Amino acid sequence: MKPIPFGQRLVVRLAVGMISVALLSLFLTFALQVVNVTLSDLRPPEPDRMQELLTRLLAENPNDEDLLALTEFPYELRRVLLTTTLLSVIVSGGLWIYLAIRFARSIARPIEQVTSAAAKITGGDLSARVDVPSGSSGETARLSEHFNQMARSLETYERERTEMIAAIAHELRTPLAVMLARLEVMEAGLVELSQEEVSRLGHQAKLLTRLVNDLRTLSLADANRLSLYKQKVDLGDLVRRATESFSGRAREAVVSLSTEIADVWATVDPDRLEQVLFNLLDNAFKHTPAGGRVTVSLDASAGQVRLAVRDTGTGFGGDPKRLFGRFYKAHDDLGGSGLGLALVKVLIESHGGSVSAKNNPDGGASFEVRF
Ligand SMILES: Nc1ncnc2c1ncn2[C@@H]1O[C@H](COP(=O)(O)OP(=O)(O)OP(=O)(O)O)[C@@H](O)[C@H]1O
Ligand SMILES: [Mg+2]
Repeated sequence: MKPIPFGQRLVVRLAVGMISVALLSLFLTFALQVVNVTLSDLRPPEPDRMQELLTRLLAENPNDEDLLALTEFPYELRRVLLTTTLLSVIVSGGLWIYLAIRFARSIARPIEQVTSAAAKITGGDLSARVDVPSGSSGETARLSEHFNQMARSLETYERERTEMIAAIAHELRTPLAVMLARLEVMEAGLVELSQEEVSRLGHQAKLLTRLVNDLRTLSLADANRLSLYKQKVDLGDLVRRATESFSGRAREAVVSLSTEIADVWATVDPDRLEQVLFNLLDNAFKHTPAGGRVTVSLDASAGQVRLAVRDTGTGFGGDPKRLFGRFYKAHDDLGGSGLGLALVKVLIESHGGSVSAKNNPDGGASFEVRF
């Protein structure tokens, strides 16, 4: 059932309160009528004057039954009834004032807390939170909980942003430092400018370019501005060519490279898919020692394409989801910036697919892409 909006509930509560006060007044008026008391009677009777009056009237009309009944009217009882009625008016009125104050406070206090926490956050203190008493429910408790959730997200986002900037600075600094050091020794005449030196500098420049391009792709994807140039592609052919480009590396590393490729056509951005394969194969070769095997397989069933890269290498430890985090590196000694798998994830998700990782039961790791 849809919950009643807060505004409507507030209106209903106020209406119920007002109706209750009106009913209470009606009841009191009725009660006063029952005891035959009008508002002008709400003052203490003056027994001496009344007694005097009654005695005079009775002397004139000794047989008047009304007058006789009046003399028997229990003044004490009437006073008790009046006092009780007055007391009940005071108590119920006080009760209503107390309840109204509590109700107003129950709304005002959380709003005051949210306002002061929001002011702290605006001032840069992202750890500010609102107290949500345990067991509290209702709209104001939900407001406080949502506020706390928002503050937590903001804090996490800010921490990730700072860490990301530090990681980017770190990754950019390494190739720049290498380049600068080589240029300085050449400038000082300690090393000759040779073909070998130029290709070393070129390698560092390529690393920098790749890093900057990867970061640009990730930030475009974050902003939903990543353009895909999709076309109908012979995927089998694309995967075969991408795999073949690693044959030299496979020979060098003494790792066998094999494929199991079905005839699959799909509408994809071929350059982006090559990038995905490049990253998965690069990782597989990085983590597979000599004598191992890397296998790339491609097939399709029920309208879904499955592309997998399997190796017989070291495998990975911990939660597979962490591998796809930005700048995550479990092996610092193998180079790389830790952006490869984050990029794979973003590129496959932008194709409406998903990617997963697992360790093989007989050793090594498998990365599977579905779209
Ligand atoms: N095939 C694999 N076997 C074992 N561990 C792997 C494999 N692929 C990735 N990993 C682990 O996942 C981490 C993240 O991989 P990712 O490709 O994102 O970064 P990288 O390879 O370290 O750097 P980059 O790809 O940017 O050059 C790696 O550092 C590695 O620890
Ligand atoms: Mg990688």
